[in-house]
Parts: sequence; C-alpha cells; structure tokens
Amino acid sequence: MSWSLRVPSASPEETRALAAHLASAAHPGDVIVLAGSLGAGKTTFAQGFAHGLGVRGPVTSPTFTLVRQYPCALGQLVHADIYRLDQLAEVADLGIAELVEHGVALVEWGNVATPALAPVTWTIEITKDAESDDGRTLTVRGDVDDRRDAVVAALGPALEAR
Ligand SMILES: Nc1ncnc2c1ncn2[C@@H]1O[C@H](COP(=O)(O)OP(=O)(O)OP(=O)(O)O)[C@@H](O)[C@H]1O
Ligand SMILES: [Mg+2]
Repeated sequence: MSWSLRVPSASPEETRALAAHLASAAHPGDVIVLAGSLGAGKTTFAQGFAHGLGVRGPVTSPTFTLVRQYPCALGQLVHADIYRLDQLAEVADLGIAELVEHGVALVEWGNVATPALAPVTWTIEITKDAESDDGRTLTVRGDVDDRRDAVVAALGPALEAR
C-alpha cells in the first residue's frame, strides 16, 4: 500500500537538514524522484541529501549536464535533472536504471517520466507555501510498506502528519 508523510521546512538550511536525515534511510538501488515547480528546492534538497551521504564539495544543478555523479557512502550518488528532455526515450538513454545499480539516484522532474526510470522508491514533492517566501512543504510518498518506518525514524519529530 502506498503511504505519504509531510514535513514543513522554513528555510533552505532546513530542507538540506531534512534531506540529510532522509539519506540515512536510503539503500543502494533506490531511485528517488524530486518533484515540484521551478525553484521549489529540488536541487537544495539534493545538496543536503548528498551531504548526508558524505559527499564532499559542491553539489550543483545538473540542469545542463543532465547527470552528475558523486562517490558517496552507498556507492555512487547519481543526480539527474530531466527538465530539458521532452521524450521518454531521451530519459531512458540516460541509463538511470543501470547507474543506480552502483548507488542511489535523485531525479529532478522524474515524476514526468517514471516509465523511463527504474522503479521509484520515494517521490519527494516540494511545494511553496503561500504565506512565506521561504516556506516549503515536503511530501514523501512511497509504495514499499517496510520503508515507511525508516523514513519516519529518519525524519522524526519534524513530521507534520502521519
Ligand atoms: N525552505 C526552502 N527549501 C528549499 N529552498 C528554499 C527554501 N526557502 C527558500 N529557498 C530557495 O529557493 C531556491 C530553490 O532553488 P533550487 O535550485 O533548489 O530549486 P529547484 O527546485 O531545483 O529548481 P529547478 O526547477 O530550476 O531545478 C533557492 O534559492 C533556495 O535558497
Ligand atoms: Mg534544480
């Protein structure tokens, strides 16, 4: 059965910290989709997630390079952004399903092309709050029941609704 959990974030730093916590619940082979409008905070989330997996140095947007890879605690962290691709075949050509065999993948805008990815472990949707410029709500959705508890443990008291 699918599940979803919501977490508020009041700042980019908080989004990075939440992402770093969530990284502790990731396993090799996980494909994590980052959804949300332009500037919602998908790359900001990826920076925190990478930091949580021990990636040193800057993590920058892959909007133009499409895929960046970083050695990390779970093998390779694959960070992709498929915004500029408009065919499922182009997304499939990135080879995320093969790359993730050696680590974990974060795919910005991956929600528009799930058939071209390996099975998605979680989707993190980031929405901007209406009342404050820096307010965001992160919704974590997953389909694998036994992974929900790991996410709850990783996010802990930050969770808004269970
Ligand atoms: N709570 C927050 N969480 C994340 N980012 C925030 C937050 N508040 C403000 N921001 C700002 O919003 C911007 C988010 O930019 P970012 O590049 O992460 O978005 P994105 O979703 O990856 O955009 P794109 O669709 O262009 O790839 C940054 O300037 C960041 O500092
Ligand atoms: Mg981005």
